Amino acid sequence: MQLGIDDLAFATADRYLDLANLAPVHGVEVAKYTVGLGQDRMSVCAPDEDVVTLAAAAALPLVEDLDEDGIASIRTVLLATESGIDQSKSAGVYVHRLLGLSPAARVVELKQACYAGTSALQMALALVARNPEQKVLVICSDVARYDVGSSGEPTQGCGAVAMLVTADPRLVAIEPLSGLHTSDVMDFWRPNYRTTAVVDGRLSIRAYTDSLTGAWQDLQAQGGPAFGDIDAFVYHQPFTKMATKAHAHLTRIAGAPRDAEVMEAQVADTLRYNREIGNSYTASMYIGLASLLDHATEDLAGSRIGFFSYGSGAVGEMFTGVVQPGYRAHLRAAAHRRLLDERVEVTHPEYLEIVAPVNPVDGGDHTIAPVTRNPFRMSAITGHQRVYERTAAADAAVA
Ligand code: COA
Repeated sequence: MQLGIDDLAFATADRYLDLANLAPVHGVEVAKYTVGLGQDRMSVCAPDEDVVTLAAAAALPLVEDLDEDGIASIRTVLLATESGIDQSKSAGVYVHRLLGLSPAARVVELKQACYAGTSALQMALALVARNPEQKVLVICSDVARYDVGSSGEPTQGCGAVAMLVTADPRLVAIEPLSGLHTSDVMDFWRPNYRTTAVVDGRLSIRAYTDSLTGAWQDLQAQGGPAFGDIDAFVYHQPFTKMATKAHAHLTRIAGAPRDAEVMEAQVADTLRYNREIGNSYTASMYIGLASLLDHATEDLAGSRIGFFSYGSGAVGEMFTGVVQPGYRAHLRAAAHRRLLDERVEVTHPEYLEIVAPVNPVDGGDHTIAPVTRNPFRMSAITGHQRVYERTAAADAAVA
């Protein structure tokens, strides 16, 4: 029996900043961002959006396509995030209600920087192996924020990915072996009292490649596939150039031929969406997978994909999956394209205004004006509680 990703969709904010409008503010050429970092735009969350609204928007089309029995078979929701909104309650519980899932379900939140989505996927596979009748809804949702004016600012973004993990998956069967690597590194973290991350950017790039080396060596020690038996590589993408750098590193340490054209072809399609979205932490690698499946001109059925998931702090995992026959009929490429094309561009002053976090701490009644055109929004923070609602866009999505 094969286990893996049966359905996949992503969501992002409905606003974006063109990095051409950030470069002059930082006093750099735009090529530093478009070429040096491999980023063109970044999604910008409105004040009435957060990881809950993005997560629910990503999962909505998956749930809408299930019948009553299908919905009832979702007995677990695993939500991975490093930009959580509560120290105690799982963001997934709000999402569970917004999606109208069955009360006969367990819901939990997972955290280990950008890596947590992969741990959620592995746990989901283990649950489905125990009971192949059940489906697990895995959601990765994050808002990537750095200090205004910092070198991390152009690598911000936000997004969520929802994946239905099942037996006999229609998209990608995940193979059982993984290469693992954990080391205690302070490359990126967010203390409880901060709304933005603290990051040592240079160290984070070194920690990423060290983790890739460790995870690859462990995958080989476990008996995993050789480099030459992998057709395409999806890396965690804090900025898309990082994936290109990582692939050059892996090619070198695996002792594979360094043919620039082949190396580019092995990652190029995975980068397209994230160039426009920016970093979405836990979601970024899986948006990379959506990008590969949606853009590949050749039929990928039977191709083996290598995945490298990295979360600062630091945990890395390398694993593989095989694209399933007929997968193309189940892609959501047109909806993904529409989502990105219909975003509204904001100017740099507008970006500064909407990016300021809504974070009242007094327990009073704070109504939040409607901004987003996405299917869910946060309408208030009142009595220390976040209040979420469906918007007209959710009903339009169903119609
Ligand atoms: N044209 C083309 N490329 C240019 C350029 C120009 N005018 N100016 C600079 N560049 C290139 C640099 O050569 C560099 O590329 P290289 O690393 O391949 O040499 C790249 O642009 C970035 O420039 P750099 O000076 O290193 O950027 P920075 O110090 O401002 O910050 C990060 C880059 C990634 C460290 C920063 O954005 C950051 O901290 N991001 C958040 C953390 C992160 O994403 N970590 C990744 C691992 S999880």
